[in-house]
Amino acid sequence: MDFGTLAYGCWRFAGNSTPEADRLIRTALDAGITLIDTADIYGFGEARGFGGAEVVLGEVLAADPSLRERMVLTTKGGIIPPRPYDSSRDYLMGALEASLSRLGVDHVELYQIHRPDLTTPMRDLAQTLDAMVSSGRVGAVGVSNFTPAQVSALAAHMSAPITTLQPEFSVLHQDPITDGTLDLAQEIGATVLAWSPLGGGRLFTQDGPVQRAVAKLGRETGYSATQIALAFTRGHGADVVPIIGTQTPERVEEAAVEMALTARQFYDIVEAYRGEAMP
Ligand SMILES: NC(=O)c1ccc[n+]([C@@H]2O[C@H](COP(=O)([O-])OP(=O)(O)OC[C@H]3O[C@@H](n4cnc5c(N)ncnc54)[C@H](OP(=O)(O)O)[C@@H]3O)[C@@H](O)[C@H]2O)c1
Repeated sequence: MDFGTLAYGCWRFAGNSTPEADRLIRTALDAGITLIDTADIYGFGEARGFGGAEVVLGEVLAADPSLRERMVLTTKGGIIPPRPYDSSRDYLMGALEASLSRLGVDHVELYQIHRPDLTTPMRDLAQTLDAMVSSGRVGAVGVSNFTPAQVSALAAHMSAPITTLQPEFSVLHQDPITDGTLDLAQEIGATVLAWSPLGGGRLFTQDGPVQRAVAKLGRETGYSATQIALAFTRGHGADVVPIIGTQTPERVEEAAVEMALTARQFYDIVEAYRGEAMP
């Protein structure tokens, strides 16, 4: 499946009016983004509550159904406070149907398990995900916030491929480089969807060695901190697609301007994060 090179995420999306949400989605699609990432939990604790971000996106799609054809749509399930995680078959099958209903669609291209439920056997989750794919309601499946060992345990029981892994990955959170996530993705041929690729905004609000390294590269290359941080995630040898979450349409357009770091520039950022030169 082609996920493009940049995705737009709806974690911060539930507070938008329908016109504001429409503008963001339209701006993303017009800028060349196709993958729109949401989740049933987005909006929980806010005015619209659980499912709120899917409801707003559903309103945008209902107002202009042609937008649906332009996007690769993915949602996630499996977080249900206060339990807090449930990957049982009955729960997930119901959660998928509820997500499709809120979005007003009959299928999604990708369904992801948001966080691992430690109480559900991986064998059972594998059967559930395979059943989702067989049902035609889901084009492919993926997992988020799973350790590499959890992904391997799940993959061992699945017939369908695990198409995506969704870890936090950015200049400010480089654990997936060293914890095996990006290596496992390459082993099983999965695309990595990097959440909070701008550190959830910490790239701009904090000043540390990584922010300073990014700013220096900005002065050298003429690209913005956003563009450099996104290029960093794509600079790794794994297939990485960063998911941005800005609520500012102009920042979506800025993020869609791609640049490529040289290997030396990529390692400058790794070294700034590590606090020492590569061995
Ligand atoms: N699977 C998971 O567990 C998980 C967890 C978290 C997120 N996600 C996914 O990843 C997506 C992105 O996450 P994210 O929103 O944290 O990503 P992000 O793009 O790293 O951070 C977005 C934040 O950065 C701010 N920002 C962006 N450009 C800025 C600039 N030039 N100056 C100042 N602030 C700036 C935005 O503010 P403005 O809105 O004001 O521009 C927003 O608050 C989510 O929507 C979701 O789809 C998944």
